[in-house]
Amino acid sequence: MKIIGTGSARPSMRVTNSMLENFLDTNDEWIVTRTGIHERRVISNENLEDMAADAANKALADAGITSDQVDFIICSNVVNEFVTPGLGCIIQGKIGATCPTVDINCACTGFLYALDIAESFLITKDMNNILIVCAEEPSRMMDWRDRSSCILFGDAAGAVVVTKGDDLKAIRLSTHCKVEALYQKRRLQPTPFLNKEEDDGGVIMNGQEVFKLAVSSSIKDIDTVLSVAGMTADDIDLYVLHQANVRIIEAIRHFVKQDKEKFPVNLDKYGNTSSASIPALLDDLSRGNMLKRGEMLLLSAFGAGFTTGAAVLRWSK
Ligand code: ACO
Repeated sequence: MKIIGTGSARPSMRVTNSMLENFLDTNDEWIVTRTGIHERRVISNENLEDMAADAANKALADAGITSDQVDFIICSNVVNEFVTPGLGCIIQGKIGATCPTVDINCACTGFLYALDIAESFLITKDMNNILIVCAEEPSRMMDWRDRSSCILFGDAAGAVVVTKGDDLKAIRLSTHCKVEALYQKRRLQPTPFLNKEEDDGGVIMNGQEVFKLAVSSSIKDIDTVLSVAGMTADDIDLYVLHQANVRIIEAIRHFVKQDKEKFPVNLDKYGNTSSASIPALLDDLSRGNMLKRGEMLLLSAFGAGFTTGAAVLRWSK
């Protein structure tokens, strides 16, 4: 595969750390020191499906194709207001595409899983253009009274168009069931027959455990994809990592012993936007002319599950 177009969309509401001080026992200094996050964008009057369609349309325009040329849509999403139909179906209608769609829920690693599915479909099926849309509103999953989790997240959509090509040099996905580290349960509709208790509420996260799992599994994944691609850490021009916490990025950077300039960061402005984080960062970099043709990128992400993924990808757009 190769990426031929990128797009992103974010809500208009900027929520700074000092705005959180109005209703939480927290402060800017604590959040910045522990996470690197200064502000995040949070949905106020927007609908996630409109943001997703906006990001998708921008990616199609960037790729120079129209929606009728899309052969398949992969939508990565954890929650949205629709239980059914899948968000991909709604995006399909909004952008005027006619192809099949599928939704995946691989938490923050969704973009890596979508890339691997797209690669397989391009190889095994008669397809030319696949649209990947990662659209997330983690702000609607949080208990906004829990200062240890709600400060971390922001909402966004990121999209890419991929076509046949030879840019994906290696990809590794993994899942290790560790539900208790990070999960959210919701109460479903009652029935006349139900006789069990069900949980409801915001995300439950063991931050320190997630931190350790994130660093240890990302390091393993990065090692694996570098060796599959026959490369060393020095051969990578940019490490495009999941934007969760600047300290996690720093820990990974120390492991690969590379300069800070190779690790683009936008979590200071947007927080952790789940699976939208990598495609939206790619879009920022691409539109900011910070990606050069032929550069080698290493993508790496982790999320609830515990799911992880990494890939080595040449940039040829
Ligand atoms: N403001 C002020 N104090 C706080 C806040 C806050 N927002 N949050 C927690 N604290 C307090 C705690 O109560 C604790 O106080 P205590 O010592 O009196 O008990 C103290 O700060 C230290 O808390 P820790 O949890 O030890 O802080 P830590 O340094 O581990 O940082 C953090 C917490 C930022 C959550 C960190 O563990 C982390 O980033 N983990 C990874 C989380 C993550 O990336 N999650 C998402 C990944 S997967 C996905 O993207 C879906």
